Amino acid sequence: MHVVSTIKELQILLAQHRNNGKNIGFVPTMGALHHGHISLVTQAKNFCAVVVCSIFVNPTQFNNVDDLANYPKTLENDLSILNTVGCDIVFCPEANELYPTKCQLVFDFGHLEQIMEGAFRPGHFNGVGTIVAKFFNIIQPDHAFFGQKDLQQYAIIQLLVNDLSYQVQLHCCAIIREQDGLAMSSRNMRLNEYQRTLAPSIFQSLQTGEKLAQNNTILASIYNQMVDLYLDKNIKLEYYKFVNAEDLTEITTLVKGQKVAICVACYIDDIRLIDNIIFNA
Ligand code: PAF
Repeated sequence: MHVVSTIKELQILLAQHRNNGKNIGFVPTMGALHHGHISLVTQAKNFCAVVVCSIFVNPTQFNNVDDLANYPKTLENDLSILNTVGCDIVFCPEANELYPTKCQLVFDFGHLEQIMEGAFRPGHFNGVGTIVAKFFNIIQPDHAFFGQKDLQQYAIIQLLVNDLSYQVQLHCCAIIREQDGLAMSSRNMRLNEYQRTLAPSIFQSLQTGEKLAQNNTILASIYNQMVDLYLDKNIKLEYYKFVNAEDLTEITTLVKGQKVAICVACYIDDIRLIDNIIFNA
């Protein structure tokens, strides 16, 4: 496994592989790797001869300085995990390699950046769009792999790829969960023992929402029950939304057969967690 920190080194390696006719898969990460990331690398290995994984905590997508400062950093462990799962190249640049000057570019992702994560984390998707566009330009992958846990991020990246004609095939990979249902996330590392006992309620609230929605098409009443559930657990609910799983527009009444996602964001003390579930109404 090659570990490189400059664009130049990375592009030299990629050119050699391309000259040998190999296709390139890309798995972007911010490190603090867990089984969710490993499953992305495994899927990338199924499609591609060469897998590049980036480890970069992208400062421009954090709208909260404490969140950036507290983001877990476990580089040595990450590298040994990637080595065992057969990653070929790890790109871990310093911030000034990717942002030699302050980035001026501003994206407009339309309604996608006005709802849910977009509404609660202003500027977040501009930072995601910027870094993913940079990675796509630098790496020019044939395939790129993202997790469904960040469903709205995936929709933003699809839009970026469509509108800017990136020649990359995107893959939205299933959420990997702990045995008790908690969606794997680098932020879970920050949960103490007590907070960890609360965290499975998040997925339970999604399962309950799905079940209730099968018999109750008026979604406001389900939402009210969920607000009570989160209050009971002392978890601060930021949003719990029923959306059309295709375009992420909010829905208030279910139509039978429709593909629906429930998306949730909440805080357990100062740790922000998100999750979602997709089902057919
Ligand atoms: O999903 C993430 O970990 C990040 O948003 C990404 C795609 C690596 C961009 O920094």
